[in-house]
Amino acid sequence: MNGDRGALEIALEAVERAGRPGGCEPWTCRVGSWSLAVVSCAAGPVPAGTVLDEEERISTAFSGSRRAEFLAGRAALRLACRGVGVADIAVPIGALGQAVPPRGVAACLTHKRGVALAVAALHSMPGDSIGVDLEFVSSRNTRLLERVLGPAERDGFSGADLDPVAAVHVCIAAKEAAIKAASVRVSERLRFADISIATISGETLRIQVRGGLALTGVFARKPPWVAALAW
Ligand SMILES: CC(C)(COP(=O)(O)OP(=O)(O)OC[C@H]1O[C@@H](n2cnc3c(N)ncnc32)[C@H](O)[C@@H]1OP(=O)(O)O)[C@@H](O)C(=O)NCCC(=O)NCCS
Repeated sequence: MNGDRGALEIALEAVERAGRPGGCEPWTCRVGSWSLAVVSCAAGPVPAGTVLDEEERISTAFSGSRRAEFLAGRAALRLACRGVGVADIAVPIGALGQAVPPRGVAACLTHKRGVALAVAALHSMPGDSIGVDLEFVSSRNTRLLERVLGPAERDGFSGADLDPVAAVHVCIAAKEAAIKAASVRVSERLRFADISIATISGETLRIQVRGGLALTGVFARKPPWVAALAW
């Protein structure tokens, strides 16, 4: 499975449009082996046919914005899976809380402020997984940087061309994307403390997971949004 940071950049443009008042139409894109989709639930229900009956049933356990985002996430994941030629199969909730993609597909979703972003790719080897995360940059306390990043990571981020607020959000997005990709591989619910960012080179990251697993990550920024992928 190979990634292209350009895909994430284009997707973030769609996220930014979807995050405006009123949202926007569903967006999909295929770049290399990745298929990405963005669905907004700000302007009302997700498009007909993008959520299956079983997922509608699962969603009744939630209410309000959580239910809307759950459905938008499933719709985005469905569109991303269709982008790699996968037939519509209901996506249940796994034991770790993850959206369980159809067999043979690595897929993941994230939602924030009424916008869902999903990515899917066909497995190039059994057990492939991918993680995606979306963050909305707010003037969070930059002291979070100290909580989220270890000293070696702080040095790495200080060399990157990012202001401290952006660095906090890039770091959170990268670690959450890595948690999602790695949790399903090790069948364990991982935490920030299990993930460390080993190197940052431009917008590409080498991510180390407790236990020895190494992942590649990429991030993209389109203020006020930051997104990261890990695989
Ligand atoms: C699991 C986690 C990464 C999800 O990230 P988030 O920013 O809360 O939520 P997002 O919207 O980006 O993603 C949610 C989706 O991720 C997926 N997901 C949830 N848990 C997952 C897991 N363990 N593995 C893979 N995917 C998971 C689901 O599809 C979920 O959406 P759905 O419930 O609508 O299907 C996050 O909740 C987490 O546990 N972070 C670690 C926090 C930590 O270590 N805290 C320590 C104190 S600082």
